[in-house]
Amino acid sequence: MDINAIRALVADDMAAVNRLIQARLQSDVVLINQLAGYIINSGGKRLRPLLVLLAGRACGFRPQAHAQMAAIVEFIHTATLLHDDVVDASTLRRGRDTANSIWGNEASVLVGDFLYTRAFELMVELEDAQVMQVMAKATNTIAAGEVMQLMNVHDPDVTEERYLEVIYRKTGALFEAGCRLAAALAGAGVEQQEALAAYGRQLGTAFQLIDDVLDYAGSADEIGKNIGDDLIEGKPTLPLIQAMRAGDSAQRSLIREAIEQGGLDRIEEVHAAVENTGAITYTRRLARAEADRAIESLRCLPNSDYKAALQALANFAVERST
Ligand code: IPE
Ligand code: IPE
Ligand code: MG
Ligand code: MG
Repeated sequence: MDINAIRALVADDMAAVNRLIQARLQSDVVLINQLAGYIINSGGKRLRPLLVLLAGRACGFRPQAHAQMAAIVEFIHTATLLHDDVVDASTLRRGRDTANSIWGNEASVLVGDFLYTRAFELMVELEDAQVMQVMAKATNTIAAGEVMQLMNVHDPDVTEERYLEVIYRKTGALFEAGCRLAAALAGAGVEQQEALAAYGRQLGTAFQLIDDVLDYAGSADEIGKNIGDDLIEGKPTLPLIQAMRAGDSAQRSLIREAIEQGGLDRIEEVHAAVENTGAITYTRRLARAEADRAIESLRCLPNSDYKAALQALANFAVERST
């Protein structure tokens, strides 16, 4: 099953989610409509809502509740992107100028807050204490993860373990929460909720590992983001951590300096080192292993097209170039 076939399974459900997103984006403040509308309608993959819908369909679908949950996770995701592009000083997102490069950092941060808080309004409407509890924890985890990552910037001694903690928090936690709550809203028992939560966590981790690979080995045209943003910032992601471990002393000091100083001055050499030390292959292999674990986590679900689509999505997370 390829990504188009996966999407086709829940195309009507996703259309309902998109209508809900548009309706709940509205504000009486013009700039909010402009900026939020710009990023929401700029062609994101809608992966997190897709997961919520598929997980819901696999466990017992409640159209309104699941559409609402799907919109909530996309709002939160979008808010984190608005903030992330300010923090990362990124200029390209989804193949377009970032909101911060058009409207400025202040507007991006504030509209990000609007989307974040709108997501909480939508959560309250679900009148479900578990939704509030899981989402409060997940959003707090994401925020802490972003701060943790900020503390790691320009530090070449960040370990693989610490890196994995950051990517769980900043990315895995939202996938985990969305999948767990999709099961919970479907009325699934604790075993299935835990299985979906593990699936989301593992898939999210694989997804971020590949995002970090694509920052070195991807194409800006395909991912719609500039390649090398992580290097400019001096972010110690796994491709660099592994290249330092596997490289010779010249490669090691090249990459240490690149992390310490940031910037793209020696990007060609860094790319060569990351490639030649097998660090890309290593990171991809780790992502593959996480995706395999994610697929394994679905064992306790009854067989269905939706379960097969969830399995196929784990493969997409690793094989993607977009
Ligand atoms: C980007 O997520 C941020 C990461 C967690 C890597 P996506 O790649 O899902 O972003 P969009 O929504 O498709 O643009
Ligand atoms: C994404 O981190 C994590 C969140 C948005 C919380 P990145 O900085 O790697 O995401 P991209 O590469 O800018 O999409
Ligand atoms: Mg970023
Ligand atoms: Mg990235």
